[in-house]
Amino acid sequence: MMMLALFVFLLPALPLPGASASADICIVGAGISGASTAFFLTNYTSSIHGHGPQLRVFERRHRVGGRLATVAVAGDRFEAGGSIIHPRNLHARRFADLLGLAVEAAGDDDWLGIWDGKSFLFQTLRPLPPGTSWWRRKLHALLNSLLLLRRYGLSLLKMDRFVQEMLQRFMLFYSDFESRPAFATVEEMLKWTGLYDLTRRTLEEELLDAGLSSQTIAELVTVITRINYGQSTRISGLAGAVSLAGSEPGLWAVKGGNWQLADGLLKTSNASLHLQEGIDSITDAGDYYVLRSNTGNEYNCTVTVVATPLDEVNITLSPPISIPQRKMQHTHATFVRGLLNPGYFGLNSASDIPELIGTLEVPDIPFSCISVLKRYGEDDRTYKMFSRAKLDDDLLDQIFSTRKETIRINWAAYPHYEAPEEFAPIVLDGKQLYYLNTFESAASAMETGAVAAENVARLIIYRLSLPKREAEPPYIKPFAEEEEEEGSRRRHVDL
Ligand SMILES: Cc1cc2nc3c(=O)[nH]c(=O)nc-3n(C[C@H](O)[C@H](O)[C@H](O)COP(=O)(O)OP(=O)(O)OC[C@H]3O[C@@H](n4cnc5c(N)ncnc54)[C@H](O)[C@@H]3O)c2cc1C
Ligand SMILES: *[C@@H]1O[C@H](CO)[C@@H](O)[C@H](O)[C@H]1NC(C)=O
Ligand SMILES: *[C@@H]1O[C@H](CO)[C@@H](O)[C@H](O)[C@H]1NC(C)=O
Ligand SMILES: *[C@@H]1O[C@H](CO)[C@@H](O)[C@H](O)[C@H]1NC(C)=O
Ligand SMILES: *[C@@H]1O[C@H](CO)[C@@H](O)[C@H](O)[C@H]1NC(C)=O
Repeated sequence: MMMLALFVFLLPALPLPGASASADICIVGAGISGASTAFFLTNYTSSIHGHGPQLRVFERRHRVGGRLATVAVAGDRFEAGGSIIHPRNLHARRFADLLGLAVEAAGDDDWLGIWDGKSFLFQTLRPLPPGTSWWRRKLHALLNSLLLLRRYGLSLLKMDRFVQEMLQRFMLFYSDFESRPAFATVEEMLKWTGLYDLTRRTLEEELLDAGLSSQTIAELVTVITRINYGQSTRISGLAGAVSLAGSEPGLWAVKGGNWQLADGLLKTSNASLHLQEGIDSITDAGDYYVLRSNTGNEYNCTVTVVATPLDEVNITLSPPISIPQRKMQHTHATFVRGLLNPGYFGLNSASDIPELIGTLEVPDIPFSCISVLKRYGEDDRTYKMFSRAKLDDDLLDQIFSTRKETIRINWAAYPHYEAPEEFAPIVLDGKQLYYLNTFESAASAMETGAVAAENVARLIIYRLSLPKREAEPPYIKPFAEEEEEEGSRRRHVDL
């Protein structure tokens, strides 16, 4: 409680005339961050609807979800943006449960090959055919571990320890209200959990200190950071640790698309959703903000939450507010139905090409990764590729021997990480204008969006003195406890 008082009351107290009775809370962006904010605001307060404050969510596109979206290739739908969720991402797990969304295992069991531009310098074993007995599967998994251990040795254990330490600190974001303050800056959030120092140095520096070999960093770690953030091991340490956690077992996804998390949260919070209405400007008018939209409407909002990165959108803030410069890393997702060309990889048969191709930080490799999404037959598959630049037809014609369908998406995907990271404030103007996506400079993921949203929702509730619910939301149990309890009826992942 002391801490809470400290952080919350460092900000000027704002007696808003009649605020709690008639406050309109406006959220710009209907991605997972904006949707989570709407959810936590209604979940933590008792009168946000009816006579209480009204919640409006603005989304410039015709659909919700933002960077969570599916793409249709030859009639099948695949994740095009954010695709995997870590088993310890407790908000996402709780959302899926609450919304009754079915989940499925994602990303395990891959036949990984590390491509250096000339050859595969390392490969795990080919997957076993379906129907193989359990003991063969166990043996297979064991052999794969041994293969990795032979090449990377103790570095694997050190990498695991590094990730577990980060996760343990991250779990503090789920602790109860008594012990956990609402924070007005990302720096305070990260310092309180002990994660701040990881944003000051590069992943490479952190891992060398943790005792990993340079070979492990140049190969395995590079493959992972290129897959998850499209960047090298020179990204900052916290984003790096989050990205390494994305290579652990137990990953999952929402069946039919992760965007349904955002959709469901918006529905359960009864927010009034304004689709295809982009906000062009946010003007401070004293005790409220005037939001002007591209459909010519104006809204008076007591509180405004910006739930989109400000780096590549044109929202005019007046008076202007300057925030640290940040570049977004663009990831080009290319979906191809067809068959890879074995010749491009120096092989004789397409069946010899690994199903997940990771790459080293070598200038001539034009892609970060290629993975098989679905096999329709021996020479008919759907692939997903990530790259830093657009892959033009000429290049694709070299990489693929047949190509029936190609879909390209250019994402402003996540920040371009450069340690030491600088963070824009959460409370942009010291008043009631909040910025969620400043937290992405620590690490960009669905769960970090939800964590940032939960904090902002609490900050708004305290600073506006909105009536809280009698009972606090259920305390989220530490993961280990929950696993024990679940025992044989493990709901997630192993479907
Ligand atoms: C290719 C790719 C792979 C990824 N992989 C993973 C992964 O495996 N696991 C994971 O956890 N994360 C992953 N991420 C990151 C994750 O998708 C994002 O961190 C997360 O979805 C961001 O959510 P958000 O709500 O903060 O922002 P967004 O999803 O970007 O939502 C912002 C919304 O605001 C809207 N908007 C913008 N400007 C305006 C305006 N002026 N007015 C109204 N609306 C506006 C946008 O249209 C958008 O819908 C990946 C991202 C990409 C691109
Ligand atoms: C709040 O969230 C919890 C789950 O964390 C859920 O059980 C409860 O129904 C929610 N309440 C409201 C009013 O949304
Ligand atoms: C949302 O609206 C429905 C129907 O009006 C109502 O039953 C429900 O309680 C509302 N939920 C919240 C969180 O206000
Ligand atoms: C916003 O508030 C101003 C001042 O009270 C008022 O003149 C204006 O009509 C309001 N606009 C809307 C859209 O409610
Ligand atoms: C923002 O505005 C500038 C100048 O008007 C324009 O060049 C740019 O394309 C716009 N960006 C977006 C994302 O709309």
